[in-house]
Amino acid sequence: MNLKNSTILITGGTSGIGLEFVTQLTEIGATIIVTGRKQDALDETKKNFPNVHTFKSDVSNPQDIKDLYDTVTTLFPELNLIINNAGMMRLIDLQDQSLDLENINREIATNLTGTIQMVHQFLPHLLKQKSSGIVNVSSGIAFMSYSAAPIYSATKAAVRAYTQALRLQLENTNVKVFEMIPPGVKTNLQNEWVKQPNPAMMMTADKMVKISIDGLLKDKNELKPFPIRILKLASRLMPNHLLNYGHKEFKEIKKLQNK
Ligand SMILES: NC(=O)c1ccc[n+]([C@@H]2O[C@H](COP(=O)([O-])OP(=O)(O)OC[C@H]3O[C@@H](n4cnc5c(N)ncnc54)[C@H](OP(=O)(O)O)[C@@H]3O)[C@@H](O)[C@H]2O)c1
Repeated sequence: MNLKNSTILITGGTSGIGLEFVTQLTEIGATIIVTGRKQDALDETKKNFPNVHTFKSDVSNPQDIKDLYDTVTTLFPELNLIINNAGMMRLIDLQDQSLDLENINREIATNLTGTIQMVHQFLPHLLKQKSSGIVNVSSGIAFMSYSAAPIYSATKAAVRAYTQALRLQLENTNVKVFEMIPPGVKTNLQNEWVKQPNPAMMMTADKMVKISIDGLLKDKNELKPFPIRILKLASRLMPNHLLNYGHKEFKEIKKLQNK
């Protein structure tokens, strides 16, 4: 894709991977639109990147998606790329009955339903553009359920499945479908966790986004760094080993919580 002449909407562009997209796509010269739920984070992004257009919008709220569509397509009819990046990842013990039925699957509304509804709302617009694209952000966890974050794991495997089907259905259109598959990346995603991920195992957002932009420029379906290739292979060769390796962390977290 030609990114320099693109108008790009990034959901959750005020932190982590989304904010890094803002930094690098600004350098390329694209027109950038950013969403998020917190007004102060949007204001901070606008302060640091005065040319970026910010809109308060929650992807888990269908009315927000409709309003965003109306505003953005009116102000930016040339919009041709959406990056469905907004996401949340909670540590969940499935035996914890303090989480009520509304709360237990909250990630689904943001990570999965939000992505699907954003695509559904913006697709007719993207189909009208000469060259356009959709980036859905899944995760390495799509290849190996991570027991400490069971609902998150379910959403990311589902985002991958949905994105593959979407790509097939749009194969004869002008809309290219990309899946960004990050491994562990140093961001604010797990700030609330009692145990932080091992920093030595985490990639920088800068590197992850560089690889993704390179993939977008070359029209690669999957935007993924080398460790994801290894993980994909390992998930076929030794799936149980991978599952149990991840599950060790859940056990360690439970020990910490019970101290
Ligand atoms: N970091 C990793 O290790 C990793 C690995 C694989 C995949 N990913 C994926 O990468 C994406 C970005 O995550 P990140 O690591 O950059 O996390 P982050 O630093 O926590 O950033 C998340 C962004 O999403 C926004 N957001 C959250 N819920 C939202 C909602 N309902 N509507 C609109 N915006 C929302 C947040 O802003 P507000 O809170 O103000 O709304 C923030 O801008 C996520 O899809 C995540 O699952 C991350």
